[in-house]
Amino acid sequence: MQHHLGSLFRIIPSAKRLRILFVSTEAEPFVAVGGLGVVMHSLSKALAQRGHDVRMMIPRYLKINDEEWGLKMEHSNLLVPTENQEGPKELICNVKRYNANPGKGIVTTYFLENMEYYEQRANVYGYADDAIRWVLLCRGTLEFLKTSDWIPQVIVCTDWQTGLLADILKTFYRDDSKLSKIATVLSIHNLSAQGSFNYKFVPTEEIDDGYSFIPAFEDPKLLKINGMHRAITSADVINTVSSTYAQEIMSPSYGEGLDELLRKRKDAVVGILNGLDYETWNPRQDQVLKYRFSEAALDVRAKNKAVLQEHFGLPVSDNYFVAAVVARMDVQKGIDLLESIIQNLLQDLKMQLVVVGEGDARLMEIFLNMKTFFPEQVGAKFSYDAELPHLIFGGADVALIPSRFEPSGLTQMEAMAFGCIPIVRRTGGLADTVEDFNPARGTGTGFVFDKVDPLSLLIAITRAYESFHHGPEWRQLQKRAMRKDLSWTNSAKQYEELFRKAIELHSKNQLG
Ligand code: GLC
Repeated sequence: MQHHLGSLFRIIPSAKRLRILFVSTEAEPFVAVGGLGVVMHSLSKALAQRGHDVRMMIPRYLKINDEEWGLKMEHSNLLVPTENQEGPKELICNVKRYNANPGKGIVTTYFLENMEYYEQRANVYGYADDAIRWVLLCRGTLEFLKTSDWIPQVIVCTDWQTGLLADILKTFYRDDSKLSKIATVLSIHNLSAQGSFNYKFVPTEEIDDGYSFIPAFEDPKLLKINGMHRAITSADVINTVSSTYAQEIMSPSYGEGLDELLRKRKDAVVGILNGLDYETWNPRQDQVLKYRFSEAALDVRAKNKAVLQEHFGLPVSDNYFVAAVVARMDVQKGIDLLESIIQNLLQDLKMQLVVVGEGDARLMEIFLNMKTFFPEQVGAKFSYDAELPHLIFGGADVALIPSRFEPSGLTQMEAMAFGCIPIVRRTGGLADTVEDFNPARGTGTGFVFDKVDPLSLLIAITRAYESFHHGPEWRQLQKRAMRKDLSWTNSAKQYEELFRKAIELHSKNQLG
């Protein structure tokens, strides 16, 4: 079927137009577990709007309904080699297709179908055979491309899961005349996940050497491969999602055991900050907010604060300083730092805390305990919710983001766009997007602290609490935060440059 570009996806001269395929485990609006899914959608949209031919490949999990999305069969009975000696030599897959919908900002998306590995799985991650599932996604993508008239110039691999594709392309498909021309980009959104195990606990004799051919599907060694290691050595170029994080991961404290490898490839590594999709995050026309507002009418936020307080069953009063935590419950996010200080905060300040997020049971328990002791001051919801963050950032005064590490972070951007002031640790993308408030100069867009330490967080919260009570200054701070340009415009251009560099390097290496 012909692929039509509507008026919202601009056409640029064909010589400049790139063919780009993203291969990912998640992509909105079809499926998202975290920031990766959000970014896959907004980045592909930004590139398509610049005129590129961008497509996406993800698995068709149980929850993605054919009929709901109008998926069409693109290729049935695709045979994907397993390299098995004993077991089946091939797995049978299908590829279904969703045609680009420029009005909704969705690019042409392919879905790899396999009953056993995707269609019967309700979740994206967390299965014992994840390594097999992602190798299947990578090989399935390449086998599909072999049969396709459309061949991308560059494939963007995301994290360890589809980072494996860069390795597979260079080994199993190195002599394929069509596929071997494709350049690869590894985008690192999460360096700490490297395989279907915790890399910190792998016995020395089981460490993946990273260079031999990826084992067969039936080989138990497949479950021990370090996809991130392999992707870093194989991809033509590498990017992570902020400049600061790109620097940080070159050091042992942030390198997750791969810093030496990354330093070896430092010329190939860049940081490109994630952008915010202002079509989704615009308080003037938000679909979730009961009371829409702009920087010229910030008083309206008080009404949203009341809606928020009601939503969580908390006493309604504009005098409360409302802090929000919107995060995956993960030690990465540093939210455990609140444990030892929250009691004092809630006792000494007129403060409320609302929490949304899913994940680690121990972390959720910390907040549950707070709620039990301070039922009038703490509200929590422990499940992923795409809409609630709009209500929260539209009404809360500050967002707490004390991350230990943060490749980019999206919530600080979402909060800023809605005049909710971020309190962040100076790391990764947080350092690159939030400038510390300076009352004397009237500069800054949030509160920034350096150490992973509850007391440092406490100081930052206290500074914010004081400033909050200086109305005019706080309004100015909110306006600066709201005016900060966090759009994809710049970043999409940088990705374009990165893709061209990957293509150039790849063809040079092929000749050389
Ligand atoms: C991961 C990172 C987060 C980033 C997101 C999207 O979830 O932890 O910092 O914003 O990916 O790139």
